[in-house]
Amino acid sequence: MKQRIEELLQEIQELKAQKLQDIEEYRIRLLGKKGAITKLFEDFREVLPEQKRELGQKLNTLKNLASSKLEELKEKVGESILQNGPKNDFTKPGDKFDLGTRHPISVTREEIISIFSKFGYAVAEGPEIEDDWHVFGALNFPPEHPARDMQDTFFISQSDNPVLLRTHTSSVQVRAMERMPLPIRIVCPGRVFRNEAISARAHCIFHQVEGLYIDKNVSFADLKQAVLLFAKEMFGEQTKIRMRPSYFPFTEPSAEVDVSCNICGGKGCNICKGTGWLEIMGCGMVDPNVLEASGIDHKVYSGFAFGMGVERIAMLKWQVKDLRLYFENDVRFLREFETVI
Ligand code: DAH
Repeated sequence: MKQRIEELLQEIQELKAQKLQDIEEYRIRLLGKKGAITKLFEDFREVLPEQKRELGQKLNTLKNLASSKLEELKEKVGESILQNGPKNDFTKPGDKFDLGTRHPISVTREEIISIFSKFGYAVAEGPEIEDDWHVFGALNFPPEHPARDMQDTFFISQSDNPVLLRTHTSSVQVRAMERMPLPIRIVCPGRVFRNEAISARAHCIFHQVEGLYIDKNVSFADLKQAVLLFAKEMFGEQTKIRMRPSYFPFTEPSAEVDVSCNICGGKGCNICKGTGWLEIMGCGMVDPNVLEASGIDHKVYSGFAFGMGVERIAMLKWQVKDLRLYFENDVRFLREFETVI
């Protein structure tokens, strides 16, 4: 053993290294689990008691020498890397990296919000996971209304007041009426969820912007004015609107809004299916029951509400015929909006 120790002492003193990898190899060879020095320590257990003292000291010296030699080599290699290592050329042009583009749905949502903020509307948001009261009950949906059906709504839990994914952003309208001081003038953008088969025209997740204005003496004429101004800002100054009577549980009277087709200018084309008109939103005067459900006196206050699909507005604006493209995030599609945006 003595001889082996001497050999190793000699060997360690002569070690040289060019790179850090060499030093790691030495470490494994000498001090690793199966290394030469580790092995000697194992053999040391068999050494006769009278030799233990001398050999033990020698072994310790050997181990210390190995550790300090490895440290010394590491420092030397480190210095030489700093001095002779690959030089950076700071005058070289940087690597090109691709900036993403904003998603057309985000752009459309922001545009809708910015138009209404010019008219004095604030932005309000609410939870995507809602209860039955805020999505249906407070909005005057009768208990057996088909929208409450499992076919349309994703339920999370069933109880007296089931938890569900909101099917429209009108729920934010209710939360605002419960909490905000009057008058209220808000737009509520957000994701909504419906249990629908995915197709070119429908998706189980999409985006809406809901609008609500409540004050004293708000009339249907105010609603018409707000919608007309919005349509002109969104689709161009020449845009006309028309309102068709409709039904929503939470508004009375209710209407659906069409804008004159921005492709053919109203003459009729395949986008507007020859009618010259494109449907963009639902709207109406807030039903007195809805005001009362949120604690607002319908004899003093009145208001209007409207709701639109962001995908639908984006499809009309850029003539995208398949809604699924907005969700696939194929960069070839998204890049087409680089110039538009
Ligand atoms: N919540 C309706 C929907 O999801 C959209 C809507 C229609 C909202 C009329 C309104 C409204 O505020 O007045 O289909």
